[in-house]
Parts: sequence; C-alpha cells; structure tokens
Amino acid sequence: MPTTIVVGAQWGDEGKGKVVDLLAERSDMVARFQGGNNAGHTIVTGGETYKLHLVPSGILYPGTTCLIGSGTVVDPAALVAELDSLEERGVALDTLRLSGNAHLIMPYHIALDGASEMKLGRFSIGTTRRGIGPAYQDKAARVGIRAQDLLDAKILLAKLQIALEEKNQLLEVLYGLPRMDAEQIASELQPHAERLAPFIADTSLLVDRALREGKRVLMEGAQGTLLDIDHGTYPFVTSSNPIAGAACAGIGIGPTRIDQVIGVSKAYTTRVGEGPFPTEIDSAAGEHMLTQGNEFGTTTGRQRRCGWLDLVALRYAARLSGFTELALTKLDVLSGLPTVQLCTAYRTPEGDRLTEMPYHQTVFHHCTPEYRELPGWDDDLTGCRTLGDLPAAARNYVEAIADAVEVPITLIGTGQGRHEVIDRVEI
Ligand code: IMP
Repeated sequence: MPTTIVVGAQWGDEGKGKVVDLLAERSDMVARFQGGNNAGHTIVTGGETYKLHLVPSGILYPGTTCLIGSGTVVDPAALVAELDSLEERGVALDTLRLSGNAHLIMPYHIALDGASEMKLGRFSIGTTRRGIGPAYQDKAARVGIRAQDLLDAKILLAKLQIALEEKNQLLEVLYGLPRMDAEQIASELQPHAERLAPFIADTSLLVDRALREGKRVLMEGAQGTLLDIDHGTYPFVTSSNPIAGAACAGIGIGPTRIDQVIGVSKAYTTRVGEGPFPTEIDSAAGEHMLTQGNEFGTTTGRQRRCGWLDLVALRYAARLSGFTELALTKLDVLSGLPTVQLCTAYRTPEGDRLTEMPYHQTVFHHCTPEYRELPGWDDDLTGCRTLGDLPAAARNYVEAIADAVEVPITLIGTGQGRHEVIDRVEI
C-alpha cells in the first residue's frame, strides 16, 4: 500500500476510522485532506478509548507522521483541546503537522452556521453547526483566515477586520445577533497561535519527500461520497469534496502518485442530517440497525437514519472515486434479521427503472427502491476472522455486493473491536 486513499462510500459514518486505524498501523504517514471537526471517530486501543475529530488516527502509533492538509478547515480551539487531551494521556505529538494553507474556523463561522440553519427552518441542512460551511465559503470568497496567519499577529488582525465588516452585517442585520470584535477574536486566538505554531508546516512538501523516500502514505477522507459538494445530494451535503480526487488537491500532490483507493461502506446505510435517502426504513429492521449498530453520531450524538444497502449509490461512489477495493463494515449488525435486502435499482413515479444514480435531484427525491431479497443469518459474527468462518448466508450477501459493484471486497467488519475484522481477503 504505497499511496492509499481511504474514503467513505455513503453519507459518512461508514466506519472509516477503524479501517484507517488498521491501515495506519502499516503506514509511515497519515494525512487528512478535507473537512474539519464535523468528522469524528472513536478508536479503542489498549483498553483506552480515543475520540478524534481533526487529528489523524495514526497519532496513536509512535513514529507515524500525521498531517492535517491544506484542504481541511480547522477550528483552532477544537484542535488545541484535542491536542491537550491526547497529550494528557501520554500520546506524543511531535510527528503532527498542520498545513499553513489550511483555513481556520472562526467564532463568526460557528455563529453563522447555527443562525443560517435556524433561519432555513424546515429547509435546514442539518449541519453539525461547527462552522464548516461558512469557513469554506470564506475560503472561496478569498476572505478566509489561514493557519499561517497565526504566525503574523498584524496580518491576522487586519484579515479579521476585513472579514468582520461583512460578517457583522450578517450577524446583526440578517440574524439579529451581537456583533463580533476583531481585536477580541485576535487576542483570544493568541494562546492558540502559540500552541499551534510549532506544528504549522508545508505539508505538501512533507508528503512529496515521504513518497520519494518510498514511505507508505495513507490519505484519510472525512464524511462520504453522497455528502460531496459537487456530486452528493446537494444541497444536503457538506462543503468540501470527500471523494478520492480531492485528496490530491487537499494535500498538494499529483494524481500520478496514487496507487490505491479504498472505499468504505457499511453493510447497510445510515445518514445524519436532512436530505433524500431512498432505502431508509422505519420498520423493525431499521430499529435493529439503530440499536445493534449503535447508530448515534460521534460528533453531535444525533440518532442516525437507517436503511438497507443501496447498490445504485455504491456503484456511483465506486465510479466517482475509482475504488480499487471496498471495505464492508459492520456486517455483524445484520445478524438476527430473517431476511436482508439489497437495493438494485430505483423506480421513478412514472415507472422508469434506473440502475444509475439520477443526476436530477428532483428525480432522486421521488425514487423508490427495488430490492433483491436474500436470506438472513442468526450467527454472531464477532469471532469470524476468515471467510470460511462466515455463515453461508452472510458470505452470499457479501458476494452479491462485490458482484454488483464490480470492486473486490478486501476487508469485512465483524465486530466493534479493533481486530474484529476479516482482513486481507478478496471477494
Ligand atoms: P456540515 O459538514 O456540518 O456542514 O454538515 C452538512 C451535512 O453533512 C449534514 O447533513 C451533516 O449531518 C453531514 N455531516 C458532516 N460531517 C459528517 C460526518 O462526519 N458524518 C456524517 N455526516 C456528516
């Protein structure tokens, strides 16, 4: 695995953390390329539980270089809190680096995220309210504050003053919120600037050097394909590109350097926030997924919407990111269901049968799934470590997915624990 990208194939929360954690053990460098602290994953290792939002999970392996790339958006207070908590627990941070080009989430981004969601009312997106969208908006509008600005107090204050001229109008006039003061924000940022300064670096150069030295580099996506701002279920998406192509831009290397792309999908589907979800179910099977899969968000604690695996969407994700492999997580959660369903096509209200994701969102909103029903299994999968350990029905289910997506499944999640997987296989 010289240069590997790992991305979510659904609406986020696919269990990428566990897959990345396993691969990080075999990597020299792990880099985040988009998103911010809207992401989150829990890692259980050595009897300790770690909740990470911004820092790549490779940080738990001594000697692994961990990068937060230029395509991310970073809340300095949140990053400092994460660093403090890792350091308190004895995790060494000397291998962490933050791109000087990464944009910072400012207090007004968080205020505007919440205010705009409130104003949208029943049309709200259901964001994590971490200021992600407003920070990316400012990046595109070229009024963003970057990590490197923390190294120059004068520039930082000047940029805050410029940004706030417009932001205070929005806060006060449009949303009826208090104005914010550039000097106050700058002075509150000062301790964070001092704490983060040693980590700020040219991360693109670090990746290039590592690749030239033949090191194994892992690029870790956050969220998932269907939350992609260009290709997802817009406007119910995040404000970055969680697809594999974005790793190059978000880190600063060329596409010719990538060897492998691993898509991660649950054995079923979940979604948090608003937006269309054709295979969503509110039957006993949905309740089973919710409780057995503990489908509550790591970042916001929100209950996730649950449904059957959508092969139309999964094929779309494979196409957009060019998956060379698929990791199928949480297969164990489906144990105990009498039958399992795979969505193989959509039906439009006019009766048309679609086997590709419709590009028109109005069509997608009105699609109903067509299912292939397969027998379920009762066996507990947590002890399964090889394909031969799987009950025939579970194996049959996995094979049906690999056949439909035309991508080999190389990892299967069979339980919560770090090593509860069937790994390095090919179906
Ligand atoms: P934002 O990224 O906070 O702007 O939220 C936009 C949409 O993406 C909302 O539907 C969120 O619930 C969803 N979202 C953002 N981050 C994650 C994640 O890590 N997992 C799942 N959904 C996410």
